[in-house]
Amino acid sequence: MVLAAGLGTRMKSSAPKVLHRLCGRAIVDYVLDAAIEATGSRPLVIYSPATEGVRDHVSERADTALQASPRGTGDALRSAVAALPADVDEVVVLSGDVPLVRADLVAALMEARAMDAAAMALVAVDAIDPTGLGRVVRNEAGTVERIVEDKDATDDERGISEINAGLYAFDAAWLRRRIADLHPSPVTGELYLTDLVAMARADGRLVGVLDVEDDGRLMGINDRSQLARAEWDMRVEMNDRWMKAGVTMQDPSTVYLDFGVELSVDVVLEPNVILRGTTKVGERTRIGAGSQVFDSVIGPDCVVWASVVERSTVEDHVTIGPFSHLRPGAHVGRRSEIGNYAEIKNSRLGEHVRQHHTSYLGDAEVGDDVNVGAGTITANYDGVRKHRTVIGKRVFLGVDTMLRAPLVLGDDAKTGAGAVVTRDVPAGKLAVGMPARMRDPKSIPPKDAPAPDGEAPAQ
Ligand code: UD1
Ligand code: CA
Repeated sequence: MVLAAGLGTRMKSSAPKVLHRLCGRAIVDYVLDAAIEATGSRPLVIYSPATEGVRDHVSERADTALQASPRGTGDALRSAVAALPADVDEVVVLSGDVPLVRADLVAALMEARAMDAAAMALVAVDAIDPTGLGRVVRNEAGTVERIVEDKDATDDERGISEINAGLYAFDAAWLRRRIADLHPSPVTGELYLTDLVAMARADGRLVGVLDVEDDGRLMGINDRSQLARAEWDMRVEMNDRWMKAGVTMQDPSTVYLDFGVELSVDVVLEPNVILRGTTKVGERTRIGAGSQVFDSVIGPDCVVWASVVERSTVEDHVTIGPFSHLRPGAHVGRRSEIGNYAEIKNSRLGEHVRQHHTSYLGDAEVGDDVNVGAGTITANYDGVRKHRTVIGKRVFLGVDTMLRAPLVLGDDAKTGAGAVVTRDVPAGKLAVGMPARMRDPKSIPPKDAPAPDGEAPAQ
């Protein structure tokens, strides 16, 4: 069971706390990972009317139960037990807001309960700062007797540094029997799940305890500073893992990778690189300082200089940038060179396309070995609809060409500098002027030749 019905008021957010993102993924997703890995079963997530987004978010991987009006963790557990399949004999309870919990810790918790044949087991941490947390109260023999919540604790009890981490394993039969007996706290009016500890002891049953070091991993995320701290910890770990797998980072403290990113051997990530979502980077590719890549595939042996790449595919041996923007749907063929201030959107470029300077290709299909002159743009939008531009192989687009879509330029076509192309250009033809007229390429006189009659250039 994953408790995620709390309002998370300290987050000060319109979104449910456990849907806030940690390295590109919802907090609760990490908890589900640990739950599934440790138990091998489908989790049951408890949500409330205020956290319906949680239900929708987890529905693929988990069953859900509604806690109609959240009145504390005990009430949440009650709603969950009501929804529990009859054949379940052990229940593990995790908090939706503790994303750094590991599957091996959950497994150890289950062992701690099984070994003592206890009614329940919990995780205790000798906390550096126990403020706000439930304290573990033991008797002289060291046996755990009960948990006291911070708000209800006496000064003496507040002096206890051993805290309850909020992770539990239960004997399901015992839990089913006793869950109805929880009473609201006279102090807060909430039902405390933690009161089950004293109830187990009253029944003469043991409460297993798994003691763990305070490495900060089990601290729940309640506010945005804690979210940032958890993100930092996760990032340090993740970057370390990639470096051990053969990725170079000159300054890992400035490299931001989402959970779903995949990198290959000998990838180099320069400082201030952000790779988001499901981005994949091939072997030996260098992502230059200041680049941001979202949900894209960048092939091997590429270089990306200070550019932004979104939902695009880049084949191998391509250079991008500096200062280029690949927008969703860009596909750049191998050995292409996408240069300074180039923008590409929803376009497929063949092999060895060169688009070196200040230009825009949108809704275009570009053949192999095309040269895109500086300042060239596809005018793909007529104010109502987007139109396609199809550019054949080996086409040479002169500087400042305007391609008014829809348009087809045949193989080996050329355009002159400043051409405004409004009609299709047949294969091998040259289009010049504004709007462009068709010429035989051989008919263009050399620059210093006298102008033909009737076409004297303006003085
Ligand atoms: C709880 C424990 C405390 C422990 C701490 C560890 C109780 C009474 N106290 O306190 O002993 O030290 O966790 O982090 O259990 N939730 C619901 N429905 C509710 C209330 C909460 O689903 O009505 C969920 C929350 O979404 C959250 C989890 O239960 O995922 C814990 O709730 P929270 O309010 O954060 O409990 P704490 O006060 O932190
Ligand atoms: Ca909490």
